[in-house]
Amino acid sequence: MFSLKNVTRRFGGKAAVSSVSVDIPQGQMVGVIGRSGAGKSTMLRMINRLVDPSEGSIHFGDVEVSSLRGAALRNWQRDCAMIFQQFNLVPRLDVLTNVMLGRLNHRSTALSILNMFTREERIMAIAALERLGIEQTALQKAGTLSGGQQQRVAIARALMQQPKMILADEPIASLDPLNAKVVMDALRDINEREGITVMTNLHTLDTARNYCERIIGMSAGRIVFDGAPRDLDAAAVRAIYGTGADGAEIDETVTSTSIKGGAGLVQDNVKESASVTPLALAGI
Ligand SMILES: Nc1ncnc2c1ncn2[C@@H]1O[C@H](COP(=O)(O)OP(=O)(O)OP(=O)(O)O)[C@@H](O)[C@H]1O
Ligand SMILES: [Mg+2]
Repeated sequence: MFSLKNVTRRFGGKAAVSSVSVDIPQGQMVGVIGRSGAGKSTMLRMINRLVDPSEGSIHFGDVEVSSLRGAALRNWQRDCAMIFQQFNLVPRLDVLTNVMLGRLNHRSTALSILNMFTREERIMAIAALERLGIEQTALQKAGTLSGGQQQRVAIARALMQQPKMILADEPIASLDPLNAKVVMDALRDINEREGITVMTNLHTLDTARNYCERIIGMSAGRIVFDGAPRDLDAAAVRAIYGTGADGAEIDETVTSTSIKGGAGLVQDNVKESASVTPLALAGI
């Protein structure tokens, strides 16, 4: 079980997140929605400790995450992988190395400085890329990949951390609908097969409805809805998004894309040069 207890974060005098309390059982897939500035990113960043709470506490099982320091904090950040809208890969490094960077918190500083990855780590990285259907890009510079491919590399890197939780901050906001579906299918598959908790900020309601078993709605730093997609009725949508500038009710299609959840993992639309085996690519 993962919990936030009365968590507040202020910037200057203004509370970005206000007294938020929430319990998330291991293995849930949770979507966080809300208007721009509602506090979604700040909440996620506090969980990963990229931002510290001003008040309140964060717990994972018996561990008080909000008071971790040093090596224990780094271990938590390894256990709780983060995926960003802009992928955050190292564009000049090849895909395989980017994925293996997910192992950094598992290894000694000396090995990291020498940039030496073990055979096992290379095999693991290739397996992660295969799982996401992009193993043929292993030796390309990450910066040359499409946005959808880059986000899949970022997910492969997150898998290398062998995390207990994946936090994704608008992972599909920069992607076209097809790539958005591939990325959301991948996150759901990881959630279902590995039982890894996934908590993702989303700016479209229908994606949250299609992919998440639980939806948390935020408004002005507070949780104003917490329930199953079927409970997200017009009144709840109003509480989260408010009314338009002219006082009219928000039209749900405004927060919508054409993405629909579907079965299966990732289609093989990027397996270009299939003659090269993935293990050969990894130099194994
Ligand atoms: N580092 C910071 N310094 C000052 N203010 C900040 C900082 N980070 C966030 N804020 C403020 O906190 C509030 C919540 O921001 P946050 O980024 O969490 O919102 P969000 O729900 O993720 O919005 P969006 O949908 O636009 O990504 C906003 O008013 C924002 O300006
Ligand atoms: Mg945000």
